[in-house]
Amino acid sequence: MSRTIMQRICFATALGAVMAAQGWAAPADVARGRAIAEARCARCHAIGRDDAAKHPEAPNFRDLHRRWPVEMMQEALAEGIMTGHPDMPEARFEADEIDAFLAYLDSLAAPQAPVSR
Ligand code: HEC
Repeated sequence: MSRTIMQRICFATALGAVMAAQGWAAPADVARGRAIAEARCARCHAIGRDDAAKHPEAPNFRDLHRRWPVEMMQEALAEGIMTGHPDMPEARFEADEIDAFLAYLDSLAAPQAPVSR
């Protein structure tokens, strides 16, 4: 019996889940995550490896993984990050944006440079 389309979809989904669990983000996600950070966060935060924050109190994204486990941010992003700081706008992300953004943050925590600038 040949594989049904559903079996193929299930396999692809399972493989995706394993890859996500292993932290293997597709490079496209990392690039997209960086683009999201650039568009929505870079006017205050340092989003790269060696740039400086524009807002004096905004933490560098390269240090975020030391302050919070990156997975915890998944929920925070979905619900909207609220820091109680008046300058920090509420950030709410769609699920696919969260994946891309977290892939980018993970890449900052990894030893090699993420996406070349
Ligand atoms: C208008 C400036 C501004 C923008 C834009 C901005 N932030 Fe912030 N963000 C801040 C400031 C200031 C702080 C520090 C707040 C504090 O410590 O009270 C902060 C803190 C944070 C923290 C740390 C919270 C904590 O409790 O440790 C995270 C995570 C964060 N921002 C994520 C983001 C993301 C993701 C984006 C883009 C979607 C973004 N920020 C956009 C100003 C900004």
